[in-house]
Amino acid sequence: MHNDPAMPDLEQELIAVRGGRDASFFDLTSIDQLHESDIELVFDLARIFRAGKTAKLALCKGRSMVNAFFESSTRTQSSFDLAAKNLSMDTTNVGSGSATKKGESFLDTIETLGAYNVRVIVIRSAESGIPEVVARHVGASIVNAGDGWHEHPTQGLLDTLTMLDHFGSRDLTGRTVLAVGDIKHSRVFGSLVRAVNKLNGEVRVAAPETLIPDAVENFGVTRYHSVEEALNGVDVVYALRVQEERGAAGFVPTLREYSKTFGISERRLGLAKPHAILMHPGPVIRDIDVHSALVSRHPQSRILQQVENGMAIRKALLWLLAERYDGRRKLYTNL
Ligand code: CP
Repeated sequence: MHNDPAMPDLEQELIAVRGGRDASFFDLTSIDQLHESDIELVFDLARIFRAGKTAKLALCKGRSMVNAFFESSTRTQSSFDLAAKNLSMDTTNVGSGSATKKGESFLDTIETLGAYNVRVIVIRSAESGIPEVVARHVGASIVNAGDGWHEHPTQGLLDTLTMLDHFGSRDLTGRTVLAVGDIKHSRVFGSLVRAVNKLNGEVRVAAPETLIPDAVENFGVTRYHSVEEALNGVDVVYALRVQEERGAAGFVPTLREYSKTFGISERRLGLAKPHAILMHPGPVIRDIDVHSALVSRHPQSRILQQVENGMAIRKALLWLLAERYDGRRKLYTNL
């Protein structure tokens, strides 16, 4: 297949790098599901997709994907949609205007979408656990695009790809990642800590006590209440938004006070290692989570690289889920 002269070079390269490999999973609801070989496969492909930018490829022609976003999104929804289109998938979007507003359950909604024989359904929900529950009932692969406070696995993948590419390494041994901000309500943190742990990195958290979950140490994390102390010796400063839509503003006296105590400023970034990078999943609340001057143009900021990597990771994942070499199909019950 690789020597087909009519096939674009990029497709040939992707097929060669994939080397007949398949993912070990049919749905992606948590980073916990991923083996080392899955992460390696997704990253190998994502780097090539990234180099190909918006090249139109026929890799998933004839397959369909639905974005079912029941919470707002800029990055995740648009990048899944564009990624699928670049792979020649047909796509549609349902969400806040769907029949769930008329009382239809999530399960009935997802089973309805599954009846279109789509290969992939990407779900974002305000409730934790929805993607995992519905995944048991449809033949389409379910991808969790953020469920409540739980996880956002493609974010964890794009974040760790961004770190590895910065450090030029295959894992995060000897690297320390500091997450600063609303850890308690953060599904991004839920996937970040699992992904960094899988790659042998160390994680610290710094936040007001009210914004740190009680059992965070179960992830092998060290907690700090002084951001200055926490920043000492870290390689990655990962800022998280105070999630006002989940009531987080009620966990701090005022956002101004939060920003004064935990916001990432140039001075604070300077307390990390000299070549440390600044990351944020977006959306950034400028001058609350991160000082405005650091967001996109600062040399240590990797925030826009995270966005670019998001597209590449999602292309790799969609291709793996929509086109398997082993011919296996997902087992599920429609009971
Ligand atoms: N990082 C992230 O999930 O951003 P969106 O809410 O814009 O998708």
